[in-house]
Amino acid sequence: SMEWTCVGELTQFLKEKEVLIRGRVHITRPVSKNMAFVVVREKGFTVQCLVTTQGEGVSRQMVKFVAGLNRESIVDAIGVVSVPENPIKGTTQQVELHVRKLYCVNKAMPTLPINVEDAARSDAEIEAALQSGDKLPRVNQDTRLNFRVLDIRTPANQGIFRIQCQVGTMFRQFLLSEGFVEIHTPKLIAGSSEGGSAVFKLDYKGQPACLAQSPQLHKQMAVCGDFGRVFEIGPVFRAEDSYTHRHLCEFTGLDVEMEIKKHYSEVMDIVDRLFVTMFDVLNERCQKELEAVGRQYPFEPLKYKPKTLRLTFEEGIQMLKDAGVEVDPLGDLNTEAERKLGQLVLEKYDTEFYILHRYPLAVRPFYTMPCYDNALYSNSFDVFIRGEEIISGAQRVHVPEFLSERAQACGIDVNTISTYIDSFRYGAPPHGGFGVGLERVVMLFCALGNIRKTSLFPRDPQRIAP
Ligand code: 4AD
Repeated sequence: SMEWTCVGELTQFLKEKEVLIRGRVHITRPVSKNMAFVVVREKGFTVQCLVTTQGEGVSRQMVKFVAGLNRESIVDAIGVVSVPENPIKGTTQQVELHVRKLYCVNKAMPTLPINVEDAARSDAEIEAALQSGDKLPRVNQDTRLNFRVLDIRTPANQGIFRIQCQVGTMFRQFLLSEGFVEIHTPKLIAGSSEGGSAVFKLDYKGQPACLAQSPQLHKQMAVCGDFGRVFEIGPVFRAEDSYTHRHLCEFTGLDVEMEIKKHYSEVMDIVDRLFVTMFDVLNERCQKELEAVGRQYPFEPLKYKPKTLRLTFEEGIQMLKDAGVEVDPLGDLNTEAERKLGQLVLEKYDTEFYILHRYPLAVRPFYTMPCYDNALYSNSFDVFIRGEEIISGAQRVHVPEFLSERAQACGIDVNTISTYIDSFRYGAPPHGGFGVGLERVVMLFCALGNIRKTSLFPRDPQRIAP
C-alpha cells in the first residue's frame, strides 16, 4: 500500500526515501552478472535505476531479468532515492534509484519499429556524432508518423501537445471571460461552407452532403440566434490537393463569431487581446515544454508587442513594392510574398505577429462584407506569425438579398445554402468573426516548419493512418 511517486518528482529532497514508481523501460545497460542499469521514463521524465546484488534482496537472477527487459515495457520499481556525486548523463532527473523490487507490468515486443531514444535526437546531436566518427540513426518524418504512438513519447512531442492543450485552454478561458458562449455546430452539412473544390463529398442517406470545411455558416446562424458572441473548437475538413508543410485534410478550428456595434476593428481587438494573453501565458506556464521542444528543434522565442501591429493590405503591398517585390494590388498574396512581408515587418516594426486588413474583395469568400467606402476592398483580415497565416477573419454580409447576390457572383449554388441565407431574413445583427488553425499556431509559435509535427495523428493527402 505504498504511494506512487512520479518520475518527474524524483529529486534530492527525497534522498534516502523509499519510493514506488511506474514507467517505461527507456533503455537497459547491463554491466555485469551482478549489476545492471535501467532508465525508467514517465511522461518525458527519465530516472536511472541501479540494480545490484549488493543491494538488499536483489539476486543475480533479478539482475539478469532487468538487463533483459524489452524497451518501452511498463514496469513498477520500488527503490531508495540516492544522490550520486557526479552528474548523471542522459536523464532528466539528477537522482538515482537503488532498486529493491522491480516488476514487469506489461512487456513490449523485443524489437520496436523505432526507438524513442533515436526519435528524440536533434539534428545537431546527430551531426556532432558524425563529426567524431559515430553514426546515430535518424528517424525520418514518415517513419515517425507510421509509428506515431512511439514517436509521441519523445520529450519534444510531449511538450508540443501540452503546449497545444494550453492554446486551446487559453482560447476557451479568454473567450468565456469576454462573454462568449461555446457552441458545437454540425460537421455533416448539405453544401460547402467556404466554396471552392476542397470539400469531402459524401452520401447522406441518399442526399448529397459534405464534411464541414468550417463552422462558418452555423456560427453565423448562432449569432442570428441571439447568442451575440460564440466560439467553437472543433474539427475542420479540407480535401486539400496539395501536399505542403502547412496544409492538413483535417485540422482543429478555433472559431469565433460576434456582433459588431460599429466597426470590424472590434473583431481585431479580440484577436489582439486573445493572442497577446495566450502568448504571455504560454511563455510563463509552458517553460519546461518550450525548453523540451527547443532541445530537439531549436527556435527563437516569438517576437510580439503588447499591442498588435495592424497594417492595411495597401500598406503591405507598398512595403513589398519598396523592397522590389511587385504583386497584384487586387490579388491575393502568395506564400512567398507573405513570407517576404513578414521579414519586412520584422525589420521595420520588430514584431513577428501582426494583422493585415482591408483585403481586396475578390480574394475573399462570398460572405465577406465589402468596405463601405470602396467595394474593391473588404472588411477582412488575416493574421500572421513569422510570415505565415494563422487566422482569417472578416465582417460578414448580414443583408439576405445582398448575401444571395454575393454567393451567386462567387459561383455558389444558393439552393444548397438557402437555410443559411434565410436566417438573415428573420432579423440579423451586423457581425463578424475569425477562424484560427490550432496546429498552425503551435507550429509557428515554436517555428517547427511542418504542420504534421503539431497534429497528433495527421491527415494529409497521403495519410489516413494511423
Ligand atoms: O482561412 P480559412 O479557410 O478561413 C475560414 O475557414 C473562415 N471560415 C474563417 C472565418 O471565420 N472567416 O481557415 C481559417 C484558418 C487559417 O487561417 C489557417 O490557420 C487554418 O484555418 N487552415 C488550415 N490549417 C491546416 N490545414 C489546412 N488545410 C488549413 N486551411 C486553413
